Amino acid sequence: MGEPLRIGIAGLGTVGAAVLKLLEHNGALLAARAGRSLQVVAVSARDRARDRGVALHEVRWYDDALALAADPEVELVVELIGGADGVALELCRATLGAGKSVVTANKALLAHHGAELAALAEANGATIGFEAAVAGGIPIVKTLREALAGNRISRVYGILNGTCNYILTTMRETGRSFDAVLAEAQELGYAEADPSFDIDGIDTAHKLALLAALAFGCPPNFASVYTEGIRHVSPLDIAFASEMGYRIKLLGVARVTDHGLEQRVHPSMVRIGTPISQVDGVFNAVVAEGDQVDGTLYSGRGAGGGPTASAVVADIADFAKGARPPVFTVPSAALRALPAAPMEHHYGAYYFRLMVLDKPGVLADVAACLRDHEVSIESVIQRSRSLHEPVPIVFTAHETTEANMTGALARIARLEAVLEPPRMIRIETL
Ligand SMILES: NC(=O)c1ccc[n+]([C@@H]2O[C@H](COP(=O)([O-])OP(=O)(O)OC[C@H]3O[C@@H](n4cnc5c(N)ncnc54)[C@H](OP(=O)(O)O)[C@@H]3O)[C@@H](O)[C@H]2O)c1
Repeated sequence: MGEPLRIGIAGLGTVGAAVLKLLEHNGALLAARAGRSLQVVAVSARDRARDRGVALHEVRWYDDALALAADPEVELVVELIGGADGVALELCRATLGAGKSVVTANKALLAHHGAELAALAEANGATIGFEAAVAGGIPIVKTLREALAGNRISRVYGILNGTCNYILTTMRETGRSFDAVLAEAQELGYAEADPSFDIDGIDTAHKLALLAALAFGCPPNFASVYTEGIRHVSPLDIAFASEMGYRIKLLGVARVTDHGLEQRVHPSMVRIGTPISQVDGVFNAVVAEGDQVDGTLYSGRGAGGGPTASAVVADIADFAKGARPPVFTVPSAALRALPAAPMEHHYGAYYFRLMVLDKPGVLADVAACLRDHEVSIESVIQRSRSLHEPVPIVFTAHETTEANMTGALARIARLEAVLEPPRMIRIETL
């Protein structure tokens, strides 16, 4: 058995406390697997008096998290404070600058500063483990970096936010509105008091930028992720989707196209029966498509203390065994920025719904707008008929460009018989 690995942990909240418990509970197993014991020697959080559910009397406590970077006994700093900037960023810079490695669950930090921190790590002979930053307990970072190393990845996509997946699943199962289900999710602790990061797609976009960096060997480029959340998804659209053989999921999708790197986060319709369509509730899933393996799916719990700690501890154990992989699959000097493919070039199929006054000629007017923008219709459903009452008409369109589709819908929105802005949902070809 080698020398113990001496660890400092910053942040003892949901994830930090779970990591401490896991290290304690599975300590002997981990020591056997890593060839040395994993020993927490110092911690930092804001409130010293708070009960973390684990004994802390034998570890040093720092009110200032940056002291962990300077502590000569600490070999590895585990950053579990959170936030794209502030203390988390300062701590990572100080730790890497001191030649020590970092393990973090912080996707916001890496989506914004990943390239800088990876270069700093390499310049100082250190590394950054971030398995927990993408899809919690699903080991997708290691999979992309190591297990799929022999593949050219063509597309990576997934359900990366459990809160959104829970809301969409519950809306479908109960027929209730977005607002009602969100309020319930907040009561149950599945959604934050301020849920905007989750429901507006930002959290998914952070994770997608990291997946794209791993898959395509580019620096994380969060700024160019097209991001649309789930606030506007209605029970009516979910019901129509089911009727037409689809589920609505918030997907993050990254692929390289003729126009550059396409990174997009938005509600997507996926065919019922595809593996990703069956991932419900708080579960996450990632699909990586490689030229040798074709499609591979990984699913599991994307958040929560236990699953996230599982990923954090896997990185700690790897470090203890001497692994120092390049942060984003290739050395930072070899990372190549890819041009961002503008969303108007996105090419795909579409669903859209209009609320119209059911008057003669409406469909002909709509068809004329679609024809003028080279959008061809695959199917139309108009269920109810009621003169002088708004009725929904839903369409699916064959593959076309986003520019054509949005151009047509902008014109359709101006038709007198169209009573509300059209609702459009992209159909993902899987
Ligand atoms: N929760 C999840 O399921 C999950 C899943 C995947 C990734 N993550 C990521 O994991 C990270 C931590 O998330 P979490 O849910 O564990 O957050 P959390 O429960 O809010 O815990 C944050 C911890 O950071 C401490 N802290 C805040 N400011 C600090 C400062 N200036 N110096 C030292 N400590 C400070 C807090 O101290 P006090 O306790 O004293 O207030 C708290 O212990 C985030 O990056 C998050 O995105 C979380």
